[in-house]
Amino acid sequence: MATLTGKVAIVTGSSKGIGAGIVERLATDGASVVVNYSRSQKEADALVDKITHAGGKALAVQADISHPEQITALFSAAKEHFGQIDILVNNAGIYEFAGGIEGITPEHIDRQFSVNVKGLILATQAAVKHFGPEGGVIVNISSGVALTPMVAAQVYSSTKGAVDVLTRGFALELGSRKIRVVGIAPGLTSTEGTSGMEKEMLDYIISRTPLGRVGEPSDIAAAVAFAVSQDGGWITGETIQVGGGLLF
Ligand SMILES: NC(=O)c1ccc[n+]([C@@H]2O[C@H](COP(=O)([O-])OP(=O)(O)OC[C@H]3O[C@@H](n4cnc5c(N)ncnc54)[C@H](OP(=O)(O)O)[C@@H]3O)[C@@H](O)[C@H]2O)c1
Repeated sequence: MATLTGKVAIVTGSSKGIGAGIVERLATDGASVVVNYSRSQKEADALVDKITHAGGKALAVQADISHPEQITALFSAAKEHFGQIDILVNNAGIYEFAGGIEGITPEHIDRQFSVNVKGLILATQAAVKHFGPEGGVIVNISSGVALTPMVAAQVYSSTKGAVDVLTRGFALELGSRKIRVVGIAPGLTSTEGTSGMEKEMLDYIISRTPLGRVGEPSDIAAAVAFAVSQDGGWITGETIQVGGGLLF
């Protein structure tokens, strides 16, 4: 039997990139999955088709997780369709480069904090409300930049610092309710979001990565699959670095 048979997982921001890799992997491991997207309906529907054709169970749900009422609707849709919710992966995140302190604007701060931090907190709150008496698992997708901030992306780096504090804080609060909270911090990973990166920057990052390449969504998904499985059952409050040893 696959390790996640009988479980239902919501992965925010999973129409593409790392989130898409995570839903594919969790579905392969037996979970029923909710593919959440904000704009990319075509990609989300294609992913649901791929999973269902392979024998899995998947549902696409539109919700912009920077809007509290849309988070509520996402969880209601998942509960109505699958009858339960056991796993939340807070993956949706946006990254913007201001270039340095002069480039930071109030809007740049609000955009990133409203998805990466506010959305993650409110999705966590919704998951806790919907988990059953057996508890559940929440995985927060962080980034290596929380440990070594990028000067061109100070605000993004600080959102991920906040994510790591929330991973520890919610783990402390929710452990007695059988809810684990685990952080997974990717290094540079090949996705649509990073496809525009200049070659010079890419080469620099690879040169700082002992394993000598950029990560793939499947590399990150494997760590998430472990974190939510029984084998990861004694881990909570920790953020695991999954970046081939990269120091940004
Ligand atoms: N790629 C990397 O190198 C890297 C490294 C470290 C950490 N991370 C983290 O990994 C996560 C995923 O990154 P990625 O590179 O896979 O991103 P990506 O390729 O840009 O994809 C982002 C995904 O999030 C969704 N999304 C964006 N805003 C949303 C919102 N407000 N509500 C719901 N969904 C939303 C997008 O869906 P729509 O198109 O429908 O909006 C898309 O499915 C992020 O938290 C990021 O910070 C990435």
